Amino acid sequence: MRRIVPTPAPQTAGPIPVERPRRLRRSAALRGLVAEHALRVEDLVEPMFVVPGSGVRTAITTMPGIYHQSVDRLVEDAKAAHALGIPAVILFGIPEHKDSAASALADPRGPVPLAAAALKRALPDLVVIADLCACEYTDHGHCGLLDAAGDIDNDSTLALLATGALAYAHAGIDVVAPSDMMDGRVRAIRHALDTDGFTGTAILSYAVKYASAFYGPFREAACSTPAFGDRRTHQMDPPNAREAVREALLDVAEGADAVMVKPALSYLDVVLRVREAVNVPLAVYNTSAEYSMIKAGAAAGWLDEARAVDELLVSCKRAGADFILTYFARAAAGRMAAR
Ligand code: PBG
Ligand code: ZN
Repeated sequence: MRRIVPTPAPQTAGPIPVERPRRLRRSAALRGLVAEHALRVEDLVEPMFVVPGSGVRTAITTMPGIYHQSVDRLVEDAKAAHALGIPAVILFGIPEHKDSAASALADPRGPVPLAAAALKRALPDLVVIADLCACEYTDHGHCGLLDAAGDIDNDSTLALLATGALAYAHAGIDVVAPSDMMDGRVRAIRHALDTDGFTGTAILSYAVKYASAFYGPFREAACSTPAFGDRRTHQMDPPNAREAVREALLDVAEGADAVMVKPALSYLDVVLRVREAVNVPLAVYNTSAEYSMIKAGAAAGWLDEARAVDELLVSCKRAGADFILTYFARAAAGRMAAR
């Protein structure tokens, strides 16, 4: 007799899954246990804008919650940041006087050296970084000195940056951060610092800085919108990623102690590539427009600011950044302290 083999019932719903990744998402404790990345307060750098005078605290309209401050007020804010565990600030100076030679850049009585000295007195443990670029100091708003034809003159700008780095080092700044994208500036700055005995002053290079629309609000904050033209002849072109690795490797070879990718959100693929290519610490800059668009969305009720910020900051860590320059530093640190 032939055995009759029953045909299996049709599986309308598909097979029962064997792999269930959801098991490890069932509670906050389980999710915490298996989290692959985390933001630490030690990863945060707060940008600060310093202006001449005293008692000055003026809102920057394009960046809600961010201020132009004189040294005295800035020290108060730095104390609040430090009390939350933020280890570092980066200073941007707005001088009294701008000219074509950016003469205020290397002025030892300029806003950045004065702020650095005051910060070091008040908070000796705070890491003080100074952004180093001509655009806040030139009357034309470009990141370099101009030649007779009105083009940025790479090599004379290097000498200016080296002089500025020395003024900052004299004021006690721990880290200079050239953001101009001139070729060869890390070597020029390192040479100048070493020649004057500042072998311990570190260089954090904005090695991979794109010509981006995401700096818009900062230009009002720094009063540094170029009077003509744009920054495309020196900052990187957004379609390029291989070139980012080249820029980062060049700056490491020139002596950069750490390198940066900027902006953050549209460039996390670049962060990952640079992370794989270099062995120095890697920073990412969560820029002014990345800040302001979240502020605007939250003000309109379109998104939850705290959740959006925590998500974007951890995405920088996931991409491979060691530390993050962000206008959200104190907000994020405050949430970490409350947890
Ligand atoms: C100066 C500088 C800029 C930023 C940091 N350093 C502006 C620019 O290059 O136009 C941007 C910071 C931000 O948008 O938050 N070169
Ligand atoms: Zn600049």
